[in-house]
Amino acid sequence: MSTQKSAPRKMPFRPIQEIQKSIEERLKGVKHKIAIMSGKGGVGKSFVTANLAFALAYRGKKVIILDADFYGPSIPKMTGTEGQRVYATPEGLVPVTGPLGVKIVSVDFMLPDDETPVVWRGPMLTNAMLELLENTIWGEADYMLIDLPPGTGDAPLTVAQMIPNLTGAIIVTIPSEVSQKVVMKSINFAKKLNLPIIGLIENMSGFTCPCDGKTYPIFGSGGGKKVAEKAGIEFLGSIPLDPRISECNDKGIPFFVEYPDSPAAKAFLKIADKVTKKVEGSKEESS
Ligand SMILES: Nc1ncnc2c1ncn2[C@@H]1O[C@H](COP(=O)(O)OP(=O)(O)OP(=O)(O)O)[C@@H](O)[C@H]1O
Ligand SMILES: [Mg+2]
Repeated sequence: MSTQKSAPRKMPFRPIQEIQKSIEERLKGVKHKIAIMSGKGGVGKSFVTANLAFALAYRGKKVIILDADFYGPSIPKMTGTEGQRVYATPEGLVPVTGPLGVKIVSVDFMLPDDETPVVWRGPMLTNAMLELLENTIWGEADYMLIDLPPGTGDAPLTVAQMIPNLTGAIIVTIPSEVSQKVVMKSINFAKKLNLPIIGLIENMSGFTCPCDGKTYPIFGSGGGKKVAEKAGIEFLGSIPLDPRISECNDKGIPFFVEYPDSPAAKAFLKIADKVTKKVEGSKEESS
């Protein structure tokens, strides 16, 4: 019996500083880079990322979305760009252009189909993320919004450590008590990484019934404000529950573009103005 083992596959070694430098070079035209995060899953991070991007674009900003949720990328569906592909040129990967000119990069644009699960081990995920950052033609933009998966794992860590001059994080939560505890964890995670926190958004805060006009606090009320106060961070605003949101997201219709006059779309515009004001120090007024 042969005792010969197959030779281990050699990976070209590149110092981390070299990778960091080339990511920095690629991203030099992007002014403000904001990570959207939460310790909790299903609170609406991806929905907030997509619609805040549209609200900023509606205000005339050039916006890019990086879908950094490699396990369950949902940005393509929420921006109405599902099924499109990023294409490779000798200069690098060209992002997909979505509604209102928002540029989007997602691993979903590179997968063979919707149902193929991608099994990412920690180091593979980190490498794939670095490759995406390093090989995409990001071009010029005012904002890059980064949709993170829930929690405080490899993806947020890689984003926080490898994207140079990250402007800060926006934390998303829902009003319930149980989500507040988890959200505190991600606030502390950002603080540990010295990542400035731009503010907190409360999503799914109350449902206004069209039959009686009354607002029902389905997941409780005031939790977002409470946690923002406790953590000493700015409360950026609340987005109401609206069945049209999940309907649009499920159908692959970009909500903000479809319902620009809805209370949720207006709330996104106000939040976009607050973010702009805070990040750029501009005096733009909310409508
Ligand atoms: N304000 C809202 N009103 C109604 N439905 C909403 C609202 N916000 C989000 N949803 C729905 O809730 C679900 C979860 O939203 P989303 O995928 O954005 O959460 P997430 O925090 O990104 O989840 P994950 O942790 O899995 O990445 C989606 O089906 C979305 O359509
Ligand atoms: Mg998500």
